[in-house]
Amino acid sequence: MKLWAGRFSKEADSRLNDFNASISFDSRMVRQDIQGSIAHATMLGAAGIIPEEESGRIVEGLEGILRDLEEGSLSIDSTAEDIHTFVEGELTARLGDAGKRLHTARSRNDQVALDLRLYLREEIKALGDQLGQLVETLCQQAKDHAQDVMPGYTHLQRAQPITFGHHLMAYANMFLRDRRRLHNVLDGMMEAMPLGSGALAGTTYPIDRQMTARLLGFAAPCANSMDGVSDRDYCIELAAALSIIMVHLSRFAEEIILWCSWEFQFVELDDAFSTGSSIMPQKKNPDIAELVRGKSGRVFGDLMTLLTMMKGLPLAYNKDMQEDKQAIFDGVDTVKLCLDAFTPMIATMKTRPDKMRAAAAGGFINATDCADYLVKKGMPFRDAYRIVGGLVAQCIAGRQTLETLPLEDYQKASPLFDQDVYQAISLETCVEGRTSYGGPAPSSVLAQADDALARLNQVTF
Ligand code: ARG
Repeated sequence: MKLWAGRFSKEADSRLNDFNASISFDSRMVRQDIQGSIAHATMLGAAGIIPEEESGRIVEGLEGILRDLEEGSLSIDSTAEDIHTFVEGELTARLGDAGKRLHTARSRNDQVALDLRLYLREEIKALGDQLGQLVETLCQQAKDHAQDVMPGYTHLQRAQPITFGHHLMAYANMFLRDRRRLHNVLDGMMEAMPLGSGALAGTTYPIDRQMTARLLGFAAPCANSMDGVSDRDYCIELAAALSIIMVHLSRFAEEIILWCSWEFQFVELDDAFSTGSSIMPQKKNPDIAELVRGKSGRVFGDLMTLLTMMKGLPLAYNKDMQEDKQAIFDGVDTVKLCLDAFTPMIATMKTRPDKMRAAAAGGFINATDCADYLVKKGMPFRDAYRIVGGLVAQCIAGRQTLETLPLEDYQKASPLFDQDVYQAISLETCVEGRTSYGGPAPSSVLAQADDALARLNQVTF
């Protein structure tokens, strides 16, 4: 029998039932539904809205349902309309009239708004832990490779020398920001507790919303009952934060894919985190990185689903909002899945410092340092830039590098050049000299890693 059976004279069509039901995807909120109901029943008893004795029986009944579900002696009825209906139905089957009193001063509209917040709170904490592990992994790899010189790129053209550790720390900083963003979403979400909003217009019962807010770990009850049942900002904010994580993961994945190519060979992924080909025996493919890059699209899609679903909805609750769950669950599941595979892939990857160094040595990435050499001897930077540009052109024509160009050629371009130019443009000098705060020098990379770990510990979930 339907919850709304009193008003209706016909049974629902099976096609309506299938179309309307959300149990197949909202059953994952069963623990939170029970948790919210326990708080509600406790409050109803304390406020004298139902007898204390019945409130106690309801709480025990709900705890019993949770226990039976966890032990496996009870399973969720997949023909129920949604998880709220299932829990209330099961409670009533066990307790009779006491179970029927649970829904006093409550609607599924404020109930679902609460359940989703409680569910996402746990998921955000898990995501925060996963991002923390990724940052720790990156800091460790950065420390191990603080000395390894590699080319830094702009426009995917070799630009200036950096260290591999420096490159990794750029990503560590992105994931630290992601983690902070998740924390901000959590803070905002836990500011306003929706239970007690009723269907949309509150209730005439003397409920104690401060009490339920406190019991459930919220800062306060939401300030407006209509906003309480129809606010999904926290889903959109979370989906946006998840999308930005995927942007970062996807950029990193793209670089890993490039670095694994035979053209680069900067890194080699562990066999346990690579795949082979069914036809080409030589292949070792970075499938994890490619899938992470590919899955970014579905998370952006989830954000778009939520924005489009909410746009133009009149106040207050509309059934459109049932669509929020599949979108936000998919976003959360996808990011968790990606982080689960990505972090160990990074932790186990091997680097090829020889290949990185060879690439750094072959691309005139010390040309800026060569110009700076002349500047330090008194020449204006623009003049130095032009002279070194000419030397690079000369090297390319003569199949030379700045390291191998004879001193006579340097001195023909400017009498300021001397034997010490070779020392000044050596890759080690170029990298070790870049000690500016946040720069690629090995000492700076070690400091960056320590600083990132300290910042990681400042944000706890
Ligand atoms: N399954 C519904 C949802 O996810 C629960 C709320 C139902 N409310 C209603 N008025 N039909 O949104």
